[in-house]
Amino acid sequence: MYKHIFNSVLLAIIGTSSFAQHAPTIIPIETRQNVLVLQTDKDNHLGITYFGKKLSQPTEYKLILSQSRQLDGNAGIYNSAYTPAGTWNVSEPALQVTHGDGNKSLDLIYVSHNTAKENDNVSLTSIVLKDPVYAVEVTLFYKTYFQENVVEQWSVIKSEEKKPVTLEKYASANLYFIAKDYYLTHYNGTWAKEMNPEEEQLTAGIRVLDSKLGTRANLYQPPTFSLSFDKPATETEGKVLLGTLAWSGNFKMEFEVDSYHNLRLLAGINPYASEYPLASKQEFKTPSFIYTFSENGKGEASRNLHNWARKYRILDGEGTRMTLLNNWEATYFDFNENKLSELFKDGKKLGVDLFLLDDGWFANKYPRNSDGSGLGDWQENVKKLPNGIGYLVKEAQKTGIKFGIWVEPEMVNPKSELYEKHPDWVIKQPQRPEHYMRNQLPLDLSNPEVQDFVYGILDKLFTENPDIAYIKWDCNATTFNPYSAYLEKSKQAQSKLYVDYVKGLYKVLEKLRAKYPKVLMMLCSGGGGRVDYEALKYFTEFWPSDNTDPLERIFMQWEYSYFFPSIALSAHVTDWGKQPLKFRTDVAMMGRLGYDIVVSHLNEKDLQFSQQAVAHYNAVKDVIFQGDLFRLVDPKKNDYAALMYATKSKSKAVLFAYLVGNRNGDGSDTPIRLEGLDASKNYKVKELNLYPGTKSAIREDQVYSGEYLMTAGFNPVVNARRTSVVIEIEAM
Ligand code: DGJ
Repeated sequence: MYKHIFNSVLLAIIGTSSFAQHAPTIIPIETRQNVLVLQTDKDNHLGITYFGKKLSQPTEYKLILSQSRQLDGNAGIYNSAYTPAGTWNVSEPALQVTHGDGNKSLDLIYVSHNTAKENDNVSLTSIVLKDPVYAVEVTLFYKTYFQENVVEQWSVIKSEEKKPVTLEKYASANLYFIAKDYYLTHYNGTWAKEMNPEEEQLTAGIRVLDSKLGTRANLYQPPTFSLSFDKPATETEGKVLLGTLAWSGNFKMEFEVDSYHNLRLLAGINPYASEYPLASKQEFKTPSFIYTFSENGKGEASRNLHNWARKYRILDGEGTRMTLLNNWEATYFDFNENKLSELFKDGKKLGVDLFLLDDGWFANKYPRNSDGSGLGDWQENVKKLPNGIGYLVKEAQKTGIKFGIWVEPEMVNPKSELYEKHPDWVIKQPQRPEHYMRNQLPLDLSNPEVQDFVYGILDKLFTENPDIAYIKWDCNATTFNPYSAYLEKSKQAQSKLYVDYVKGLYKVLEKLRAKYPKVLMMLCSGGGGRVDYEALKYFTEFWPSDNTDPLERIFMQWEYSYFFPSIALSAHVTDWGKQPLKFRTDVAMMGRLGYDIVVSHLNEKDLQFSQQAVAHYNAVKDVIFQGDLFRLVDPKKNDYAALMYATKSKSKAVLFAYLVGNRNGDGSDTPIRLEGLDASKNYKVKELNLYPGTKSAIREDQVYSGEYLMTAGFNPVVNARRTSVVIEIEAM
């Protein structure tokens, strides 16, 4: 491929010591716009010499090392591509092990590399590193998605030592950046307050983002961030990397500004209480760290991720999604067959595709009439549902609507038959009092019997009711008192629990998807307590938050949109917040639209409005799901928010605008420059979702050129009298 790359086979033959005298090996990991350059130093350690915009002459990558005192290996090797612990390295390691003989030193020397093309767009580079003293080997993997400018990086650690090696720390990725300054945007939150962004300039030392919550790992912090170089990036300007770890458990990301003011990034599973034993010839594969980089701001970077996620990651990401009516906030636990039959009719009246039956349908000895009992006993409650789920599926179908159902299969209430029968399946410390979140405890998914049980819940539902069209998979407690009776009994280390739980979960999901590949499935964790790109291999969408106050959702969905495309984001119209129905509906239309309201309480106009909204949504949802997203007016900095989705062909777009602050109440008093249109095309605009009896403030007979809309701009006229506006823009 590149003439200057050393022949890897030759390298393996000549060995490392003779290689040390020769020219370095340079490995560029390239996407359409960017490159990560890896290079061996005089001792054959692999370092990162460059990250950023691709050079047109790859031969010039070799010049970088010689220009930089900081990278030449004499000044201390900070730029390692995978930093080992206990030898020459004195900074935070990517890999730290204890060998079979108790020794804690590790060195990693470049051995070989290989790049294989999976297809025209996807390539996989693997780089083998070896400890010259101990039989430990690491392969670094870099999977590139060329067009999308996305890199997926992970490592595989293998030991051939006779005795087990203990992995003390095992990062997925180790990167190194050289810039003037670094600005990190990370997120914090808790239940109903997810995704609050904070941007800070990184200073000397290590900034850590992490989770130790086990299940529901993202409750306080998601494994996602954006990192701007030199200065804070905007939507359209600046160098920025968006990164995310594909792991549904404890994670740790470390950002270390070193003594040269360069930035080391380590991302992976949180090693906290998770030393992992590795038997001889066993391999440990770390989760993927996924990232994209743009020189043109966060807008382009997030579109890169969206394009990648829809095409390569989210289950059925290029497909479509169903609108639904959910009964959670309409009934909570209080329902029966008659009530549900009425709700099916309400759903039909509204025009949605599916009815989603939420929590409360199961358990008999300890009925699930509140969140205090029944979790784990997945038999229909005979009082509420004497004719079972099968009857409901048929009733729904008779009404002309599909049927979906809620489960929380990883959890158990102590007040349940499951707990009575299998106390050893529960994660809890044997000698300590139990500690609950929402009156429940996680089941021990490191145990294969528990994996079978969890799989069996879903398998039974689908086998008995093959027409179930949707699953909402919930997970409402974090892991307290981590201890596994199974690991104890099978003489395995307790420190495997956090990792093996997640691996167990993936095993269940893998098996489930092998048998039921297509069913729509929502990833929910009491709101946004769990969302990542490994789980989204199995789920078609996620529930960002239980907070559905539309004003809050504008901000939250805005932040999620940096990392996840709209097709994966569930958004429901509920009674949360003080905004009118139109506002609530307009906001929910920016994701997979659903309702969680008492439809029979809607007055005539509200019902008429909602029916039209569902019809409008169906007409434009493909633009929202598959189009390019442009965040135009930031609600954090303005009285109003505006964003638009435009098809790749630039023939259709949908613009959303909302008043979010009332200090001036002015709203959009000047035009907004639109994006993603074709300057040479002509467009007509049309207001959607007008509330019955109101008139649009937009002239629909006016034709605008794309150039005009993107240069002079367009005013959606959002103000105190028109607090939310949806506009369809269509090429003529
Ligand atoms: C938490 C979820 O986020 C809610 O939407 C609902 O499904 C409840 N659990 C049910 O217990």
